[in-house]
Amino acid sequence: MKLFLDSANLQDIEACLKRGFLDGITTNPSILAKEPKTDFVKHIRKIANLCNQYKQPIPLSVEVFTRHADKMVEQAMQIAEEIGYENLNIKIPIGWDELEVIAELARRGVKVNCTCIFTEAQCTLAADAGATYVSIFFGRLRDIGCDPIPVIANTRQLLERAKKGSEIIVGSIRHERDIADSHIAGAHIVTAGAQLFAKMAMHPQTTKSVDGFLKDFEAWLK
Ligand code: E4P
Repeated sequence: MKLFLDSANLQDIEACLKRGFLDGITTNPSILAKEPKTDFVKHIRKIANLCNQYKQPIPLSVEVFTRHADKMVEQAMQIAEEIGYENLNIKIPIGWDELEVIAELARRGVKVNCTCIFTEAQCTLAADAGATYVSIFFGRLRDIGCDPIPVIANTRQLLERAKKGSEIIVGSIRHERDIADSHIAGAHIVTAGAQLFAKMAMHPQTTKSVDGFLKDFEAWLK
């Protein structure tokens, strides 16, 4: 069960790195736009530096910000070169023209996280084109009345038989329950916001149990 942080917030990233459970970080242009306006490259470098500072060179996904497939390879290579982080992954949205971008980046040894995926067919095309990760959007599938669980489960089955070892990332997570459900359905990785991980760690009965233990122990010590 691998957990990625879906954030570009430096405080959230450091809080999760300190706790040792993080297996990766994913960003997208909207996630970056939530942060105080700054230099794009400098901000991503700060994220990379935090990972290196905590000796956790984990996968860091950064998405291209051009709509034109014929500009994506150049932009991707420029991002990779300017960031200079060992485990940088480039996010490319799924699409007919984008498949050529995925294949070319894979040929150049760039790890691609193919994103904005909503169907098993999109996943298999991206995986066969050479994507390291295929990112299924859980919440946005539910937004249109679709059940994301079968999409995850079917994709896992298809990828097990696929030519290349791509991994499923499930994103667009809105509730902590979705994290476990996605993993149970077959996701290799779930990426979510820090607030959901904090909720995952807590339960009212946990708090009640610990309080009870300490109350009993303090009474015994008297
Ligand atoms: C994955 O990193 C996706 O870009 C992200 O989870 C999308 O989340 P949203 O649907 O809440 O925008």
